Amino acid sequence: MTKPIALCAAAVMLAALGVARADSPSGASGIDPIAVRQAGYALQGGDFAYIRSVVEAKGDVKPLEVPAKAISKWGRVIPTLFPKGSETGENTKALPKIWSDPDGFQKIAVALVQASDKLATDAKAGATDLVAADTKELGKQCGACHKAYRAK
Ligand code: HEC
Repeated sequence: MTKPIALCAAAVMLAALGVARADSPSGASGIDPIAVRQAGYALQGGDFAYIRSVVEAKGDVKPLEVPAKAISKWGRVIPTLFPKGSETGENTKALPKIWSDPDGFQKIAVALVQASDKLATDAKAGATDLVAADTKELGKQCGACHKAYRAK
């Protein structure tokens, strides 16, 4: 009985993807960069909230290596998710400045990667105080980018 259900779910998913592709700015690839980046940012928001909650509770920082590494990987792909043609649609909050000042945008993404790499290393070492400082530094990059490149 599981097989037909799985096939049915796959068909529903394909239909959903078809709908997404119809108003997607990305063309042939079928990947909607706006939906992907919003999903990625939402997941990153969860990772960062988790990191902060452990730091505030003065909990064991070792497990924070995992979400910190995820944020680092994400930071590396952020600049690729704003191709031309994805300036509008799907209630995107991306500001035009991302396309007029790509270097400035990229610079903050690199700073995000560096801050999360450092956090991962310090978390692995169990360095509670360093992780607290790293978390602040990481949070600064979120704020800096949102202030300059994201609509309220
Ligand atoms: C290099 C720039 C940049 C950095 C760094 C950045 N953001 Fe964002 N963020 C954006 C932009 C631009 C959007 C809007 C994307 C859109 O709507 O297309 C966004 C959207 C979001 C969203 C909303 C996602 C949704 O559901 O639509 C959350 C949550 C978020 N960011 C959290 C964070 C957190 C937490 C950090 C730091 C750990 C961070 N961001 C770092 C640029 C950045």
